[in-house]
Amino acid sequence: MTRMLILGLESSCDETAAALVTGDRQVLAHRLAGQEAAHRPYGGVVPEIAARAHVEVLQPLVEAALSDAGKTLADVDAIAATAGPGLIGGVLVGLVTGKALAHAAGKPLIAVNHLEGHALSPRLADPDLDFPYLLLLVSGGHCQLLLVEGVARYRRLATTIDDAAGEAFDKTAKILGLGFPGGPAVERAAAEGDARAVPLPRPLRGSPEPHFSFAGLKAAVARMAPDHAAADVAASFQQAVVDCLIDRTRRALHKADGATALVVAGGVAANGAVRAALQALAAEHGLRFVAPPGWLCTDNAAMIAWAGAERFAAGLTDPLDTAARARWPLDPDAEKVRGAGVKA
Ligand code: KG4
Ligand code: ZN
Repeated sequence: MTRMLILGLESSCDETAAALVTGDRQVLAHRLAGQEAAHRPYGGVVPEIAARAHVEVLQPLVEAALSDAGKTLADVDAIAATAGPGLIGGVLVGLVTGKALAHAAGKPLIAVNHLEGHALSPRLADPDLDFPYLLLLVSGGHCQLLLVEGVARYRRLATTIDDAAGEAFDKTAKILGLGFPGGPAVERAAAEGDARAVPLPRPLRGSPEPHFSFAGLKAAVARMAPDHAAADVAASFQQAVVDCLIDRTRRALHKADGATALVVAGGVAANGAVRAALQALAAEHGLRFVAPPGWLCTDNAAMIAWAGAERFAAGLTDPLDTAARARWPLDPDAEKVRGAGVKA
Protein backbone atom coordinates (compact mmCIF):
# COMPACT_ATOMS: atom_id res chain seq x y z
CA MET A 1 0.00 0.00 0.00
CA THR A 2 3.01 2.23 0.39
CA ARG A 3 3.30 4.14 -2.88
CA MET A 4 -0.41 4.11 -3.55
CA LEU A 5 -1.74 7.61 -4.30
CA ILE A 6 -5.32 8.59 -3.53
CA LEU A 7 -7.17 11.80 -4.45
CA GLY A 8 -9.80 12.69 -1.83
CA LEU A 9 -12.77 15.03 -2.21
CA GLU A 10 -14.94 16.45 0.59
CA SER A 11 -18.08 18.58 0.27
CA SER A 12 -20.65 17.25 2.73
CA CYS A 13 -21.09 20.41 4.79
CA ASP A 14 -19.54 23.87 4.55
CA GLU A 15 -15.93 23.02 3.67
CA THR A 16 -14.88 22.20 0.12
CA ALA A 17 -11.65 20.24 0.07
CA ALA A 18 -9.30 18.20 -2.11
CA ALA A 19 -6.22 16.28 -0.95
CA LEU A 20 -3.59 13.83 -2.16
CA VAL A 21 -2.48 11.20 0.34
CA THR A 22 -0.21 8.19 -0.10
CA GLY A 23 -0.60 4.71 1.34
CA ASP A 24 2.39 5.39 3.59
CA ARG A 25 0.66 8.37 5.23
CA GLN A 26 2.20 11.26 3.35
CA VAL A 27 -0.18 14.14 2.84
CA LEU A 28 1.27 15.46 -0.43
CA ALA A 29 -1.31 18.22 -0.72
CA HIS A 30 -4.45 19.35 1.04
CA ARG A 31 -6.52 22.30 -0.04
CA LEU A 32 -9.52 23.68 1.79
CA ALA A 33 -12.01 26.43 1.01
CA GLY A 34 -14.27 27.42 3.89
CA GLN A 35 -17.59 29.18 3.39
CA GLU A 36 -17.83 31.03 6.71
CA ALA A 37 -18.29 34.44 5.11
CA ALA A 38 -21.17 33.21 2.92
CA HIS A 39 -23.05 31.66 5.86
CA ARG A 40 -22.19 34.17 8.60
CA PRO A 41 -25.17 36.51 7.97
CA TYR A 42 -27.49 33.54 8.67
CA GLY A 43 -25.66 32.25 11.77
CA GLY A 44 -25.56 28.72 10.36
CA VAL A 45 -24.99 26.70 7.20
CA VAL A 46 -27.56 27.36 4.45
CA PRO A 47 -27.69 24.19 2.25
CA GLU A 48 -28.34 25.93 -1.09
CA ILE A 49 -25.56 28.46 -0.54
CA ALA A 50 -23.23 25.62 0.44
CA ALA A 51 -23.98 23.51 -2.65
CA ARG A 52 -23.44 26.45 -4.99
CA ALA A 53 -20.13 27.34 -3.35
CA HIS A 54 -18.93 23.72 -3.66
CA VAL A 55 -19.67 23.80 -7.40
CA GLU A 56 -17.62 26.97 -7.82
CA VAL A 57 -14.48 25.91 -5.99
CA LEU A 58 -14.12 22.12 -6.09
CA GLN A 59 -12.58 21.73 -9.55
CA PRO A 60 -10.01 24.53 -9.00
CA LEU A 61 -9.12 22.96 -5.63
CA VAL A 62 -8.48 19.59 -7.29
CA GLU A 63 -6.21 21.25 -9.84
CA ALA A 64 -4.38 23.17 -7.11
CA ALA A 65 -3.87 20.04 -5.01
CA LEU A 66 -2.47 18.12 -8.01
CA SER A 67 -0.19 21.03 -8.80
CA ASP A 68 0.98 21.36 -5.15
CA ALA A 69 1.95 17.68 -5.19
CA GLY A 70 3.54 17.87 -8.67
CA LYS A 71 1.16 15.13 -9.85
CA THR A 72 -1.41 14.63 -12.60
CA LEU A 73 -4.60 12.60 -12.55
CA ALA A 74 -2.70 9.84 -14.35
CA ASP A 75 -0.49 9.38 -11.25
CA VAL A 76 -3.49 8.77 -8.99
CA ASP A 77 -4.46 5.16 -8.18
CA ALA A 78 -8.03 5.85 -7.08
CA ILE A 79 -10.43 8.70 -6.40
CA ALA A 80 -12.20 8.82 -3.02
CA ALA A 81 -15.21 11.11 -2.61
CA THR A 82 -17.54 11.63 0.33
CA ALA A 83 -20.86 10.00 -0.61
CA GLY A 84 -22.69 10.93 2.62
CA PRO A 85 -23.95 11.57 5.19
CA GLY A 86 -24.42 15.32 4.94
CA LEU A 87 -26.25 18.06 3.10
CA ILE A 88 -27.36 16.23 -0.02
CA GLY A 89 -26.69 19.08 -2.50
CA GLY A 90 -23.08 19.36 -1.37
CA VAL A 91 -22.53 15.60 -1.21
CA LEU A 92 -23.80 15.35 -4.79
CA VAL A 93 -21.33 17.96 -6.02
CA GLY A 94 -18.34 16.07 -4.60
CA LEU A 95 -19.53 12.60 -5.56
CA VAL A 96 -20.43 13.58 -9.14
CA THR A 97 -17.06 15.32 -9.49
CA GLY A 98 -15.33 12.19 -8.20
CA LYS A 99 -17.26 10.01 -10.63
CA ALA A 100 -16.44 12.29 -13.57
CA LEU A 101 -12.72 12.29 -12.71
CA ALA A 102 -12.72 8.52 -12.18
CA HIS A 103 -14.49 7.95 -15.49
CA ALA A 104 -12.28 10.39 -17.43
CA ALA A 105 -9.03 9.02 -16.02
CA GLY A 106 -10.11 5.37 -15.98
CA LYS A 107 -9.48 5.08 -12.22
CA PRO A 108 -11.54 3.31 -9.57
CA LEU A 109 -14.01 5.28 -7.46
CA ILE A 110 -14.22 4.88 -3.70
CA ALA A 111 -17.42 6.19 -2.10
CA VAL A 112 -16.41 7.19 1.43
CA ASN A 113 -18.72 7.62 4.40
CA HIS A 114 -17.77 11.01 5.90
CA LEU A 115 -17.93 9.44 9.37
CA GLU A 116 -15.47 6.76 8.29
CA GLY A 117 -13.18 9.60 7.21
CA HIS A 118 -13.29 10.97 10.76
CA ALA A 119 -13.08 7.49 12.29
CA LEU A 120 -9.90 6.48 10.42
CA SER A 121 -8.21 9.91 10.50
CA PRO A 122 -6.35 9.06 13.74
CA ARG A 123 -4.60 6.22 11.85
CA LEU A 124 -3.35 8.74 9.30
CA ALA A 125 -1.92 10.78 12.15
CA ASP A 126 -0.49 7.83 14.09
CA PRO A 127 1.01 4.80 12.29
CA ASP A 128 1.05 2.80 15.54
CA LEU A 129 -2.70 2.98 16.12
CA ASP A 130 -4.05 -0.53 15.63
CA PHE A 131 -7.59 -1.92 15.69
CA PRO A 132 -9.64 -2.19 17.79
CA TYR A 133 -9.94 1.25 19.43
CA LEU A 134 -12.64 3.14 21.24
CA LEU A 135 -13.52 6.26 19.25
CA LEU A 136 -15.36 9.32 20.50
CA LEU A 137 -16.60 10.95 17.29
CA VAL A 138 -17.69 14.49 18.13
CA SER A 139 -18.59 16.89 15.35
CA GLY A 140 -21.23 19.40 14.32
CA GLY A 141 -23.62 16.70 13.18
CA HIS A 142 -22.66 13.69 15.29
CA CYS A 143 -21.77 12.58 18.79
CA GLN A 144 -21.07 8.85 18.97
CA LEU A 145 -18.94 6.28 20.73
CA LEU A 146 -17.77 3.57 18.34
CA LEU A 147 -15.68 0.47 18.70
CA VAL A 148 -13.54 0.61 15.56
CA GLU A 149 -12.77 -3.05 14.84
CA GLY A 150 -11.31 -2.59 11.38
CA VAL A 151 -11.84 -0.89 8.04
CA ALA A 152 -15.59 -0.98 7.35
CA ARG A 153 -16.16 -2.63 10.75
CA TYR A 154 -17.77 -0.30 13.27
CA ARG A 155 -19.83 -1.09 16.35
CA ARG A 156 -21.78 1.88 17.66
CA LEU A 157 -21.90 1.80 21.44
CA ALA A 158 -23.69 5.12 21.93
CA THR A 159 -25.08 8.16 20.19
CA THR A 160 -26.82 11.41 21.05
CA ILE A 161 -30.55 11.29 21.69
CA ASP A 162 -30.94 14.89 20.50
CA ASP A 163 -28.19 17.35 19.49
CA ALA A 164 -24.52 16.84 18.64
CA ALA A 165 -21.88 18.41 20.87
CA GLY A 166 -20.61 20.68 18.08
CA GLU A 167 -24.13 21.91 17.48
CA ALA A 168 -24.32 22.89 21.16
CA PHE A 169 -21.05 24.81 20.80
CA ASP A 170 -22.41 26.61 17.73
CA LYS A 171 -25.72 27.42 19.45
CA THR A 172 -23.94 28.69 22.56
CA ALA A 173 -21.76 30.95 20.41
CA LYS A 174 -24.88 32.31 18.74
CA ILE A 175 -26.59 32.99 22.08
CA LEU A 176 -23.46 34.76 23.35
CA GLY A 177 -23.02 36.69 20.10
CA LEU A 178 -19.58 35.21 19.50
CA GLY A 179 -20.12 34.57 15.79
CA PHE A 180 -19.93 31.57 13.51
CA PRO A 181 -18.45 28.95 13.46
CA GLY A 182 -18.97 28.70 17.19
CA GLY A 183 -16.62 26.05 18.55
CA PRO A 184 -13.31 27.92 18.34
CA ALA A 185 -15.02 31.18 19.46
CA VAL A 186 -16.48 29.54 22.58
CA GLU A 187 -13.11 27.96 23.37
CA ARG A 188 -11.38 31.37 23.15
CA ALA A 189 -14.03 33.05 25.32
CA ALA A 190 -13.92 30.18 27.84
CA ALA A 191 -10.21 30.80 28.41
CA GLU A 192 -11.13 34.17 29.99
CA GLY A 193 -14.02 32.87 32.12
CA ASP A 194 -14.78 31.00 35.35
CA ALA A 195 -16.08 27.47 34.68
CA ARG A 196 -17.84 27.40 38.09
CA ALA A 197 -19.64 30.71 37.66
CA VAL A 198 -22.80 29.45 35.95
CA PRO A 199 -24.66 26.36 37.20
CA LEU A 200 -25.45 24.21 34.15
CA PRO A 201 -26.82 20.65 33.88
CA ARG A 202 -24.89 17.53 32.82
CA PRO A 203 -27.61 15.68 30.89
CA LEU A 204 -27.60 11.85 31.18
CA ARG A 205 -24.59 11.86 33.52
CA GLY A 206 -24.54 8.56 35.38
CA SER A 207 -27.16 6.87 33.21
CA PRO A 208 -26.37 3.20 32.49
CA GLU A 209 -26.11 3.33 28.69
CA PRO A 210 -23.37 5.69 27.42
CA HIS A 211 -25.65 7.86 25.27
CA PHE A 212 -25.43 11.66 25.04
CA SER A 213 -27.89 14.54 25.27
CA PHE A 214 -27.15 18.24 24.78
CA ALA A 215 -30.56 19.83 24.15
CA GLY A 216 -31.17 20.56 27.84
CA LEU A 217 -27.72 22.09 28.22
CA LYS A 218 -28.33 24.33 25.24
CA ALA A 219 -31.66 25.47 26.70
CA ALA A 220 -30.02 26.16 30.08
CA VAL A 221 -27.36 28.30 28.39
CA ALA A 222 -30.11 30.35 26.73
CA ARG A 223 -31.80 30.82 30.12
CA MET A 224 -28.67 31.77 32.06
CA ALA A 225 -26.84 33.87 29.46
CA PRO A 226 -28.61 37.21 30.08
CA ASP A 227 -27.54 37.27 33.76
CA HIS A 228 -23.86 36.38 33.38
CA ALA A 229 -20.67 37.50 31.66
CA ALA A 230 -20.23 35.80 28.27
CA ALA A 231 -16.81 34.43 29.20
CA ASP A 232 -18.24 32.78 32.34
CA VAL A 233 -21.10 31.23 30.37
CA ALA A 234 -18.64 29.97 27.72
CA ALA A 235 -16.31 28.47 30.34
CA SER A 236 -19.16 26.88 32.31
CA PHE A 237 -20.72 25.49 29.14
CA GLN A 238 -17.45 24.03 27.90
CA GLN A 239 -16.86 22.40 31.30
CA ALA A 240 -20.37 20.89 31.21
CA VAL A 241 -19.71 19.42 27.76
CA VAL A 242 -16.35 18.03 28.89
CA ASP A 243 -17.96 16.48 32.00
CA CYS A 244 -20.65 14.82 29.86
CA LEU A 245 -18.16 13.53 27.28
CA ILE A 246 -15.90 12.09 29.97
CA ASP A 247 -18.70 10.48 32.00
CA ARG A 248 -20.22 8.84 28.90
CA THR A 249 -16.85 7.74 27.48
CA ARG A 250 -15.87 6.24 30.84
CA ARG A 251 -19.10 4.25 30.75
CA ALA A 252 -18.40 3.06 27.19
CA LEU A 253 -14.91 1.85 28.14
CA HIS A 254 -16.60 -1.05 29.97
CA LYS A 255 -18.07 -2.15 26.64
CA ALA A 256 -15.00 -1.59 24.48
CA ASP A 257 -13.68 -5.14 24.46
CA GLY A 258 -10.04 -5.40 23.46
CA ALA A 259 -9.48 -1.69 22.82
CA THR A 260 -5.94 -0.59 23.58
CA ALA A 261 -6.41 3.07 22.73
CA LEU A 262 -8.89 5.84 23.40
CA VAL A 263 -9.24 7.98 20.29
CA VAL A 264 -11.08 11.22 19.55
CA ALA A 265 -11.97 12.65 16.14
CA GLY A 266 -14.33 15.18 14.53
CA GLY A 267 -14.43 18.98 14.79
CA VAL A 268 -14.97 19.16 18.57
CA ALA A 269 -11.80 17.04 19.00
CA ALA A 270 -9.91 20.25 18.11
CA ASN A 271 -10.95 21.63 21.54
CA GLY A 272 -8.06 21.75 24.01
CA ALA A 273 -10.18 21.14 27.12
CA VAL A 274 -11.85 18.11 25.53
CA ARG A 275 -8.49 16.67 24.49
CA ALA A 276 -6.88 17.21 27.90
CA ALA A 277 -9.76 15.56 29.77
CA LEU A 278 -9.80 12.55 27.45
CA GLN A 279 -6.05 12.17 27.73
CA ALA A 280 -6.40 12.01 31.53
CA LEU A 281 -9.22 9.45 31.23
CA ALA A 282 -7.08 7.27 28.94
CA ALA A 283 -4.15 7.47 31.39
CA GLU A 284 -6.46 6.50 34.25
CA HIS A 285 -7.36 3.32 32.33
CA GLY A 286 -3.85 2.52 31.09
CA LEU A 287 -4.85 3.19 27.49
CA ARG A 288 -3.00 5.03 24.76
CA PHE A 289 -4.61 8.33 23.78
CA VAL A 290 -4.66 9.40 20.14
CA ALA A 291 -6.05 12.67 18.79
CA PRO A 292 -5.29 13.92 15.27
CA PRO A 293 -3.87 17.45 14.89
CA GLY A 294 -6.56 20.14 14.82
CA TRP A 295 -6.62 20.59 11.05
CA LEU A 296 -7.34 16.86 10.66
CA CYS A 297 -10.17 16.98 13.24
CA THR A 298 -12.33 19.55 11.44
CA ASP A 299 -13.64 18.64 7.99
CA ASN A 300 -10.92 18.13 5.36
CA ALA A 301 -10.20 15.95 2.35
CA ALA A 302 -7.02 14.27 3.66
CA MET A 303 -9.16 12.12 5.95
CA ILE A 304 -11.35 11.16 2.98
CA ALA A 305 -8.30 10.29 0.88
CA TRP A 306 -6.89 8.26 3.79
CA ALA A 307 -10.17 6.36 4.33
CA GLY A 308 -10.06 5.76 0.56
CA ALA A 309 -6.51 4.40 0.88
CA GLU A 310 -7.57 2.04 3.68
CA ARG A 311 -10.59 0.83 1.69
CA PHE A 312 -8.60 0.50 -1.54
CA ALA A 313 -5.97 -1.60 0.26
CA ALA A 314 -8.82 -3.80 1.51
CA GLY A 315 -10.04 -4.26 -2.08
CA LEU A 316 -13.12 -2.06 -1.63
CA THR A 317 -14.10 0.10 -4.62
CA ASP A 318 -17.52 1.31 -5.78
CA PRO A 319 -19.48 1.42 -9.05
CA LEU A 320 -19.98 4.73 -10.85
CA ASP A 321 -23.74 4.58 -10.19
CA THR A 322 -23.25 4.71 -6.40
CA ALA A 323 -25.90 6.98 -4.87
CA ALA A 324 -25.28 9.97 -2.62
CA ARG A 325 -26.85 9.55 0.81
CA ALA A 326 -28.07 12.28 3.17
CA ARG A 327 -28.15 9.66 5.94
CA TRP A 328 -25.69 6.81 6.23
CA PRO A 329 -25.03 5.18 9.61
CA LEU A 330 -21.56 3.68 10.11
CA ASP A 331 -23.08 0.78 11.99
CA PRO A 332 -26.32 -0.23 10.25
CA ASP A 333 -27.02 -2.80 12.98
CA ALA A 334 -26.92 -0.27 15.81
CA GLU A 335 -29.94 -0.34 18.05
CA LYS A 336 -32.37 2.51 17.61
CA VAL A 337 -32.21 4.92 20.52
CA ARG A 338 -35.31 6.75 21.63
CA GLY A 339 -35.07 10.34 20.44
CA ALA A 340 -32.02 9.63 18.27
CA GLY A 341 -31.82 9.58 14.50
CA VAL A 342 -33.72 12.81 14.10
CA LYS A 343 -30.68 14.38 12.47
CA ALA A 344 -28.38 13.01 9.80
O1 KG4 B 1 -16.14 17.63 11.87
P1 KG4 B 1 -16.61 19.01 11.57
O2 KG4 B 1 -15.65 19.97 10.94
O3 KG4 B 1 -17.90 18.99 10.69
C1 KG4 B 1 -18.90 18.03 10.84
O4 KG4 B 1 -18.77 16.92 10.25
O5 KG4 B 1 -19.85 18.34 11.60
O6 KG4 B 1 -17.13 19.61 12.96
C2 KG4 B 1 -17.58 20.93 13.03
C3 KG4 B 1 -17.99 21.21 14.47
C4 KG4 B 1 -18.68 22.57 14.62
O7 KG4 B 1 -19.85 22.40 15.41
C5 KG4 B 1 -17.62 23.40 15.33
O8 KG4 B 1 -18.17 24.42 16.14
C6 KG4 B 1 -16.91 22.35 16.16
O9 KG4 B 1 -16.83 21.23 15.30
N1 KG4 B 1 -15.57 22.79 16.55
C7 KG4 B 1 -15.19 22.99 17.83
C8 KG4 B 1 -13.86 23.50 17.78
N2 KG4 B 1 -13.46 23.56 16.48
C9 KG4 B 1 -14.54 23.12 15.74
N3 KG4 B 1 -15.85 22.81 18.98
C10 KG4 B 1 -15.22 23.13 20.13
N4 KG4 B 1 -13.94 23.62 20.17
C11 KG4 B 1 -13.24 23.81 19.03
N5 KG4 B 1 -12.00 24.31 19.07
ZN1 ZN C 1 -17.18 16.13 9.76
